[in-house]
Amino acid sequence: MSATHSSSDLSRPHPATPDDLRDRPVRFAVVGTGGMGGHHARNLAAMPDVELSWLVDIDLPRAQALAAEIGGTPTASMEEAFADEALDAVLIALPTFLHKDATILAAQHGKHVFCEKPIARTAEDGEAMVAVCQEAGVTFMVGHVVRFYPEYERLKEILDAGKLGRIATIRASRTNPPVMERSPWFADVEKNGGVVLDLMIHEIDTLRWLFGDVERVFAHGLSYLPIHEKRDYTMASLRFRSGAIGHVEASWAHSTHRTSIEVAGQYGLATYSSEQAATLVVEPTEGIDWNAPGGIRVPARHYLRPGVEAPHFKEVRHFVRCLKTGEPVRVDGLEATKALAVANAVLDSMRTGAPVVFNEDGTVRAAAANA
Ligand SMILES: NC(=O)c1ccc[n+]([C@@H]2O[C@H](COP(=O)([O-])OP(=O)(O)OC[C@H]3O[C@@H](n4cnc5c(N)ncnc54)[C@H](O)[C@@H]3O)[C@@H](O)[C@H]2O)c1
Repeated sequence: MSATHSSSDLSRPHPATPDDLRDRPVRFAVVGTGGMGGHHARNLAAMPDVELSWLVDIDLPRAQALAAEIGGTPTASMEEAFADEALDAVLIALPTFLHKDATILAAQHGKHVFCEKPIARTAEDGEAMVAVCQEAGVTFMVGHVVRFYPEYERLKEILDAGKLGRIATIRASRTNPPVMERSPWFADVEKNGGVVLDLMIHEIDTLRWLFGDVERVFAHGLSYLPIHEKRDYTMASLRFRSGAIGHVEASWAHSTHRTSIEVAGQYGLATYSSEQAATLVVEPTEGIDWNAPGGIRVPARHYLRPGVEAPHFKEVRHFVRCLKTGEPVRVDGLEATKALAVANAVLDSMRTGAPVVFNEDGTVRAAAANA
């Protein structure tokens, strides 16, 4: 049993401490075994200091199929998994609008939480999650995986060392095929926040990490304009408190996953592109549609870096190490909530056509004063 109870509070579950975890594996439940949860569960199953105890999904056959492949006990009930006193940590990979309730339930059971990005659908939900995790004394990390890409880690070192001097402009882009063809909940902007909360939040979190707080947001996008039910696109301009200007693009209208960043500073320019970084490009010849309306349709290329440790593996291994050592997590709930507030400001600006301006304390300035 991982919990130890103080005499003053016998009924309250106590999260596993580094001492508890020093000589044994960390026992995990994965909640949501779809695209991302399945990926994380396979990674956890491959880690030597982890035991995959539970796989939770309301689609029980999905959890059962994954359990047959990698182990763990499948269930459709979070409550059943979280009631297991031997369980130490929960990895949440549910649809975004369900992150809050699952995180709070896990924390109230004394389980440490790794939650996929974005932390929640609204900043208020994010703040509630942070407060409950703090109150319960559990470690809470959010999966802003770009902070674990080696190129961005190195870029941060270069920037922190002042090698580019004062930063003037940043251009960052992320494109993907539309995900609602795989998981329909992505089509509902109220549940998932469209391409801004799914993709652009990666850039927003990374740019906040690299350049500090955002002061002003202005954006155009398609999330509230159903030009095409399965496409979404947003371009946003972010003014940082430092004075730097960020031009950020996110798209669910491309066939290929692609990311890039360009940072222009006083002493030079730094650039990264996922396509140029790839050491292996796989170009399928199966699936070409010669008779597609408007011309030939060619399947997407895959850009791979087999020599680089996968960032999704690295971020969860970091979380496991933090549980075992007590060191702070790289992306805590507060940071993730700040990124979410900027992402929601992008959505607000798209909807209203007006800029959103943040006060120094992170609150939004009244609309009339924004212009
Ligand atoms: N970090 C990244 O690179 C990355 C990539 C993709 C997705 N994500 C995030 O991961 C999360 C999940 O996305 P996904 O693509 O895996 O979605 P998905 O639709 O593929 O999977 C969601 C799973 O949750 C299950 N589920 C739904 N409601 C449930 C409930 N009440 N109880 C238990 N299970 C339930 C579904 O049956 C499904 O298996 C999202 O928040 C998304 O933003 C992150």
